[in-house]
Amino acid sequence: MTEVINPATEALITSVDAHSAESTKDAIGRAADAFGRWRATDPAERAELLRAFARAVDEDSENLAALEVAEAGHTISNARGEAGNVRDVLNYFAGGVERHLGDQIPVAGGVNITFNEPLGVVGIIVPWNFPMPIAGWGFAPALAAGNTVVLKPAELTPLTAIRLGELALQAGIPADVFQVIPGKGSVVGQTFTEDPRVAKIVFTGSTAVGETIMADAAKTMKRTTLELGGKSANIVFGDADLELAAATAPYGVFDNAGQDCCARSRILVHDSVFERFMELLEPAVSGVVVTDPSLEEAEMGPLISRGHHESVAGFLEGVDIAFTGSAPSGAGYWMAPTVVLPKTPRDRIVTDEVFGPVVTVQRFSDEAEAITMANDSPYGLSGSIWTRDVGRGLRVARGVDSGALSLNSHSAVRYSTPFGGFKRSGIGRELGPHAMDSFTETKNLFIATD
Ligand code: TAP
Repeated sequence: MTEVINPATEALITSVDAHSAESTKDAIGRAADAFGRWRATDPAERAELLRAFARAVDEDSENLAALEVAEAGHTISNARGEAGNVRDVLNYFAGGVERHLGDQIPVAGGVNITFNEPLGVVGIIVPWNFPMPIAGWGFAPALAAGNTVVLKPAELTPLTAIRLGELALQAGIPADVFQVIPGKGSVVGQTFTEDPRVAKIVFTGSTAVGETIMADAAKTMKRTTLELGGKSANIVFGDADLELAAATAPYGVFDNAGQDCCARSRILVHDSVFERFMELLEPAVSGVVVTDPSLEEAEMGPLISRGHHESVAGFLEGVDIAFTGSAPSGAGYWMAPTVVLPKTPRDRIVTDEVFGPVVTVQRFSDEAEAITMANDSPYGLSGSIWTRDVGRGLRVARGVDSGALSLNSHSAVRYSTPFGGFKRSGIGRELGPHAMDSFTETKNLFIATD
């Protein structure tokens, strides 16, 4: 059994059965047996089942949001948006089922026909930081393409995934086509990775575990999509709308208490406006409402666990703190939003992913230096650029090695656009019009006409 703790109160919510390697293999076997029937389902019927699943998610969205608040400490407004995101992703990929069937290519002496064939059983391994949407980004395109799915939620946050499994069944998705298998990564996740009947692994989590999964998956030639860590830059030029850049910078990094792979956790500010930017940033940071995440006014909740709180606090030892916001005291894994002025660019606080409500602020002197500093990281997931010069914005965006950038905004992730990382932030892209490609193999058939 795994205890599920509310990170805002430290109270026990419930306990959940953890699967063993044997019961995981049984689930994979059932998913393999169900694959033939699911892939043969008429595409229009499969699309309609996914739309029914989306309607079930929509009708249950207040309950799903409340579970996400309780187990993950997400603010209620974010949690509602996350339930809505799962609904939207299901509807989006339901629309892809009948458009992703194949192509025809006339050639000399005949015609080639391509078929997009599903892979088989897809194992999805989800982290605790965005349990609902990250699960949906994997299972919606996988199911739409005709695969069966076994999904392992993080041990700390299994409840929304379990509920999504129930809703899928209620909506008419056949038993064993979508199974939720809670348990330890070292047991359930490892079994997904080793079992030859699993054709693909979709993993979101730390770079260290992603590397292990990639190596283990190679032994059975599994396909992998890996969404890993980040250390993204928020670059503010002298000609930017400084008021807006400073007012929104907290949202860019402290959303979900900084436990966000896309967190813009390094702010880089042009020399000419550095002091003014810091003056504007201080009230924006102190204004972040850190409180009980079930309250409508909450803008930031607690960290996920005591262990993670200790890890984030460890990063703050010996650093120069410019200023902080506030946080509740007492029960719960609370931490105030914190702004750090690094002593050197090689400080651990600058180079490593903290995954908490901590941001560093550094200076740069010109465009080239801003790009060099932004790219001085093993990661390349996200980032923001603030300037009124569109030409410069485009030049810098082309120069920064990241998968999901925004210009004069901190928001780059949409269900209809591709998402994923450069460098050690991962391999592959989720979401967007091409996501179903990574859940199919292309088969080419030549038909002779002469
Ligand atoms: P991890 O420790 O890597 O865990 C992620 C998932 O992998 C959990 O379900 C975990 O199970 C499982 N796992 C652990 N060891 C495994 C193994 N040997 N084989 C298979 N599965 C295994 O990450 P985390 O601490 O939960 O999440 C934070 C990290 O995720 C951060 O680095 C963050 O940047 C990254 N992240 C990236 C993205 C994108 S989209 N790029 C999005 C969110 C998070 P347990 O439940 O047992 O731990």
